[in-house]
Amino acid sequence: MSSAAPVSRSFRAEIVENSSRGNSFKLLAVTPLTGTISPEPGQFYMLQAADSYDPLLKRPFSIFESAGEQLKFLYRIRGKGTLSLSRLKEGARITIIGPLGNSYPDPQGDFIAVAGGVGIASLFPLLSKHAGKAHLFYGARNSDELVFATESGTLVKGISIATDDGSAGEKGFITEHLRHCLGALPGPAHRLPVYACGPTPMLKAVAQMAHERGLSCYVSLEEHMACGIGACLGCMVKTVSGQKRVCKEGPVFEAGDVVW
Ligand SMILES: Cc1cc2nc3c(=O)[nH]c(=O)nc-3n(C[C@H](O)[C@H](O)[C@H](O)COP(=O)(O)OP(=O)(O)OC[C@H]3O[C@@H](n4cnc5c(N)ncnc54)[C@H](O)[C@@H]3O)c2cc1C
Ligand code: FES
Repeated sequence: MSSAAPVSRSFRAEIVENSSRGNSFKLLAVTPLTGTISPEPGQFYMLQAADSYDPLLKRPFSIFESAGEQLKFLYRIRGKGTLSLSRLKEGARITIIGPLGNSYPDPQGDFIAVAGGVGIASLFPLLSKHAGKAHLFYGARNSDELVFATESGTLVKGISIATDDGSAGEKGFITEHLRHCLGALPGPAHRLPVYACGPTPMLKAVAQMAHERGLSCYVSLEEHMACGIGACLGCMVKTVSGQKRVCKEGPVFEAGDVVW
């Protein structure tokens, strides 16, 4: 979505959908009431989590899809903020700031994407933008938490699934499956760049694997955020070139730059 009109990073938007996906995920679609800037895959927005001031702070969510006049977010209900967000109905208006942060560098050809749980929300627009180019490794705790696997599968060259309890795909961590598959990928595929988003232990394992094989690797980090705009220093992460703000210099980092 783009507009020739002056744009602001803070805007009001109307909720047009807030529907359940499995037991603990929801898809939120909003229509901005004013012109907004087109997001790039990997960028995120701070969303007012309730139609009141409780909780006061906005919460960060990756752009899942930007289609026509709508912005879509896929979120997991975790605590107070996401629970409040989950209760908002169609027609409610919320304040949003974004798009914020950097984005994934464009892969030059085929690539490997590794999504853990709700990490699929961040990678989904990258898979869409580069349809047919990714080998997707998608892991979740169980089949119920494997949201948008079918839709993701239509956007990629191949999809490998793993669940902790074995209720879908391979049983075990997706990183174990990735390790097993990396050597077996066809042609030069074992030298493809890796893009990953998910829980920190998963990202650390992916970063290690990429390092061992000399693959370039980009990770999208999740940190608690207060301001989301680089002002509070509440989202610092250690890198080889000092402390960096995940909301401003990230959320996407070269895996080798992060001090795990
Ligand atoms: C750049 C970025 C993009 C994100 N994109 C998405 C997304 O697309 N979809 C989605 O569902 N979530 C996403 N998150 C995580 C999301 O922001 C948190 O789940 C949300 O803020 C939790 O708010 P809450 O008030 O419900 O939970 P809280 O009450 O604040 O916390 C509940 C529990 O979740 C943990 N938690 C809260 N925030 C985080 C976090 N950032 N990282 C790790 N643990 C956390 C807390 O430690 C606590 O255990 C993203 C986070 C970042 C930084
Ligand atoms: S959240 Fe405030 S500086 Fe990043």
